[in-house]
Amino acid sequence: MGDLHDTKVLKHRFSDRVPIRSIVCRPDGGAGLSGQLVRIGGWVKTGREQGKGSFAFLEVNDGSCPANLQVIVEKEVADLSSLVHTGACVSVEGVLKEPPEGTKQKIELRVGKVLHVGPVDPAKYPIPKTKLTLEFLRDHIHLRPRTNTISAVARIRNALAFATHSFFQEHGFLYIHTPIITTSDCEGAGEMFQVTTLINEVEKIEKELSEKPPPSEADIEAAKLVVKEKGGAVAQLKSAKASKEDIAASVAELTNAKENLLKLEERSNLKPGIPKKDGKIDYSLDFFSRQAFLTVSGQLQVETYACTVSNVYTFGPTFRAENSHTSRHLAEFWMVEPEIAFADLEDDMNCAEAYVKYMCQWLLDKCLDDMELMAKLYDKGCIDRLRMVASTPFKRISYTEAVKLLEEAVQGGKKFENKVEWGIDLASEHERYLTEVLFQKPVIVYNYPKGIKAFYMRLNDDSKTVAAMDVLVPKVGELIGGSQREERLEVIQQRIVDMGLPIEPYEWYLDLRRYGTVKHCGFGLGFERMILFATGIDNIRDVIPFPRYPGRADL
Ligand code: 4AD
Ligand code: MG
Repeated sequence: MGDLHDTKVLKHRFSDRVPIRSIVCRPDGGAGLSGQLVRIGGWVKTGREQGKGSFAFLEVNDGSCPANLQVIVEKEVADLSSLVHTGACVSVEGVLKEPPEGTKQKIELRVGKVLHVGPVDPAKYPIPKTKLTLEFLRDHIHLRPRTNTISAVARIRNALAFATHSFFQEHGFLYIHTPIITTSDCEGAGEMFQVTTLINEVEKIEKELSEKPPPSEADIEAAKLVVKEKGGAVAQLKSAKASKEDIAASVAELTNAKENLLKLEERSNLKPGIPKKDGKIDYSLDFFSRQAFLTVSGQLQVETYACTVSNVYTFGPTFRAENSHTSRHLAEFWMVEPEIAFADLEDDMNCAEAYVKYMCQWLLDKCLDDMELMAKLYDKGCIDRLRMVASTPFKRISYTEAVKLLEEAVQGGKKFENKVEWGIDLASEHERYLTEVLFQKPVIVYNYPKGIKAFYMRLNDDSKTVAAMDVLVPKVGELIGGSQREERLEVIQQRIVDMGLPIEPYEWYLDLRRYGTVKHCGFGLGFERMILFATGIDNIRDVIPFPRYPGRADL
């Protein structure tokens, strides 16, 4: 894109235009480029005809940054009426000029040539210039990236993904692609979406049977008779030493008759409904010859690499079929999951804290303009929050201490909807009280009761708690869940049994403990929750391009 201090703007390497960012995001606002001839392309944010229709002002945005370029077109150059509508696409060439004193912009484009117009009928365009609510935009998923908010979120999301790779690569972690389709339930919570082709098969069979009923016994007997007759004919010709051609023709008839019989028999075996065996669904007939699901976490699989190449992470979509309608849950969300060998719970907390801080600093360094938009529109304090988190040590308390603090709060008059007592899973209201009210900064709670956590977490010496940790942050509550893993074979086997899970599907996972076991730990960061936390946007459905939640999966 070229250095922003250059005196000459550079064309985009793969498209015939100069990105607007490389004009208006320079420290001088673009003033130093005055006099240059450039081509730009973008979509009109606002447009108006002026001077009794003698020229038009357009605010054009191409998504390279939140700022628009002011473009001026005279009526001699183009039909102004098709240019000025919000949403219209324009590609124009012209000379950059410094605007008259006293205007906000440092540079504007005087158009000499209009190269392309993608018009918009303003009476029909669903995303007019007026302020639209995020709820409204969710019903126009394919057009909402055209709004300032959603495109800024896209840039912030992109920056956080880049920061993620940068952080883990800098620290020597290997990026491992774990499977989306899995046959093991990592969290053991039974919240998996099933992947099956049995239903497609059922529909196909039922359609076929309704179009053409299956053959009767009599049809099959008749077809068998034909095969017998044709077989007899072939034998007869052979024993009569008939000509090669006659025998070949007769063999061909026999083959046809056999194929016909086979088809009839196959069709007579077609049965409507899901195939069953011993009263249960027969998954041996399913696509993978067994039950399969969309993954809830790549952790178990990524551990197979951690236990040989030491430091790894996976970053991909994960799926949970929980029927949650909250502003913090999606059915499809992205998770970042590092896994570290030769490391314990404290190392895990250190890594989580360093990673979150790194992302905050990254946004301050690279996305300040987008963050300013968030501060203006959604959360005045979001930039200060990033600064605070990037520079302040996180508070660390044990679960037991956390419960004590919450109980004290209740005694002091604080009302929670969910009862507080040792053993409960902390509810969102408890988590937010700890991080927003009590400590006013991120809090890491560790050593949770074993009864509320997954089977793979390491049992502590007290036999009551496990080496788990959750990172809680203001606005969101739980941002990260992680733990030191149980590396002792006997202990983890017992945990699986105690939790009522079947051992067989986890045998491969237990092999990691049978052969060369190692102390290791890891965590999962909910990527959308990180974006919520950074931007201050209220609903998780607005920080993922294509949200999936109960009742909705648009596009
Ligand atoms: O705490 P969770 O369930 O942990 C795991 O899945 C572990 N296997 C991670 C690991 O140790 N490798 O999920 C991790 C994070 C949560 O802290 C939360 O931020 C996010 O994933 N998360 C969700 N985000 C959006 N929608 C949902 N339904 C989420 N469920 C969890
Ligand atoms: Mg969790």
